[in-house]
Amino acid sequence: MAPYLLFLLHLLVFSATTTTNAAAVSISPTSSPPSAPTPSSSPISSSTLDPKQLRALQSLNIPTSKDPCTPPPHPSAAAASPPPKTTCDSAAPFRHLLSLTLSDCSDDVALSLTALESLSTLTSLTFTNCHVTPIHFPTELTSNLRSFTCINSLNKLTGVWLSRLQNLTELTVSRVSITASGPSIILSNMKFLRSVTLSQTNLSGYLPKHTWHPNLTSIDFSVNHLKGKIPISITRLENLAHLNLSSNSLNETIPTTIGDLTSLQTLSLSSNALVGPIPDSLAALPELIHLDLGSNQLNGTIPKFLRDMKNLKYLNLENNNFHGVLPFNSTFIKGLQVFKVGENSNLCYNHSSFGPKVKLGIAPCDKHGLPVSPPPAKDTDPDGSGEGSDDDDYENVEEKKHHSGPSKVVLGVAIGLSSVVFIIIFLVLLSKCCR
Ligand SMILES: *[C@@H]1O[C@H](CO)[C@@H](O)[C@H](O)[C@H]1NC(C)=O
Ligand SMILES: *[C@@H]1O[C@H](CO)[C@@H](O)[C@H](O)[C@H]1NC(C)=O
Ligand SMILES: *[C@@H]1O[C@H](CO)[C@@H](O)[C@H](O)[C@H]1NC(C)=O
Ligand SMILES: *[C@@H]1O[C@H](CO)[C@@H](O)[C@H](O)[C@H]1NC(C)=O
Ligand SMILES: *[C@@H]1O[C@H](CO)[C@@H](O)[C@H](O)[C@H]1NC(C)=O
Ligand SMILES: *[C@@H]1O[C@H](CO)[C@@H](O)[C@H](O)[C@H]1NC(C)=O
Ligand SMILES: *[C@@H]1O[C@H](CO)[C@@H](O)[C@H](O)[C@H]1NC(C)=O
Repeated sequence: MAPYLLFLLHLLVFSATTTTNAAAVSISPTSSPPSAPTPSSSPISSSTLDPKQLRALQSLNIPTSKDPCTPPPHPSAAAASPPPKTTCDSAAPFRHLLSLTLSDCSDDVALSLTALESLSTLTSLTFTNCHVTPIHFPTELTSNLRSFTCINSLNKLTGVWLSRLQNLTELTVSRVSITASGPSIILSNMKFLRSVTLSQTNLSGYLPKHTWHPNLTSIDFSVNHLKGKIPISITRLENLAHLNLSSNSLNETIPTTIGDLTSLQTLSLSSNALVGPIPDSLAALPELIHLDLGSNQLNGTIPKFLRDMKNLKYLNLENNNFHGVLPFNSTFIKGLQVFKVGENSNLCYNHSSFGPKVKLGIAPCDKHGLPVSPPPAKDTDPDGSGEGSDDDDYENVEEKKHHSGPSKVVLGVAIGLSSVVFIIIFLVLLSKCCR
């Protein structure tokens, strides 16, 4: 009896400790264990990787003891494991690489022309935390590549080097310095580009006036040194869903034609030097989910049409020069996940639209629609961001988000403990009836 009890308790402790990152841990010993990645036998294809490509991978310190073309374990387990570093086509007798990820490279890894020539079948190439020196890519590789990603890798890139990758549909460069006069030189010949991220690249210069390709759906140039105005040409991209130009030095006004971007879902222009009003044409963007205009010098009143944007979940207008009465009530703000409006010293809210306890980081209005001075929120909000000490609604939303992680652990522990109790009762009953 005692060893059996011990075994069960042991099992329970084990299950309880594994509960932290999986809510659905089964206590029942009858359930099958999660299947480990099977390293062998794909029944479909018996061919393996082209030996030339195998040697190229070895030269890049990629372990090839397992067939790099082995498909990932079955879909449910694949979600938990990291994405595969390689994918292959199904050619016979030898398969060829289609995608390759080089990550966390050791210092002795170097790119060689020979290796890259062998790897010319790649359509997708990713470097993450891999500080090798970039070399001239062979023409065949350049022509085949559709997706290129470089995050905190390759030491330093030039615009000219990137501009050769003309067949790309996706380009991501982040946390790498790019030497270029501006984005134009990089993008002007990429006629098939759909998604481009050049973020934290120290890129300077102006946004392109002409070289936008009509199929672009996503542009992220955040955290660079781009200057000048937002060109009207960018508002002609009717497929654009995501535009992030935050943390640059863009100035002048938001183009009044911004409303032509009828597919737009996220717009972030925060932390620039934009002036003037929120354009009325923004009302024509029913898909908008995320609007971040914080930390500029925008002025005028906050337009009423924002409260009719049914999909809006994120609204940041803080740290600008807006004035007048905030045209929202608590119902509207409750519907948002994030709402920030603090640090607009001439903006105020109507007491009768909110409860008395409201903390928006701005002052209530007097009967002329002017802020009651001094703004009381300033005292309770030392960092002035409006974050953390916003109104109740906003705090509730934040709470929900922050507690969703820990609550899983609590749930796991609760399940574990109640199972212990259950099993002890069960064992006591068992020992009584079997005596
Ligand atoms: C782009 O791809 C096409 C077809 O695969 C190829 O003919 C062309 O040379 C490539 N362009 C460049 C610049 O590599
Ligand atoms: C950008 O430039 C600054 C100094 O000019 C440097 O400290 C920083 O590391 C650079 N960023 C990147 C991503 O290279
Ligand atoms: C843009 O996308 C459409 C539809 O996917 C496609 O037919 C067209 O060739 C693309 N244009 C360019 C320039 O890639
Ligand atoms: C825009 O870029 C900034 C900085 O890279 C990032 O923090 C922010 O989440 C991005 N916004 C969206 C909507 O993706
Ligand atoms: C907004 O600022 C611009 C210049 O920065 C100024 O010309 C304009 O009069 C201001 N508008 C309002 C409504 O304050
Ligand atoms: C808030 O305003 C909307 C209209 O914009 C209205 O339908 C709703 O009843 C108002 N809610 C409160 C609590 O006043
Ligand atoms: C505040 O709201 C009340 C009722 O909705 C309205 O009568 C009053 O005019 C508003 N005050 C200001 C300053 O807009």
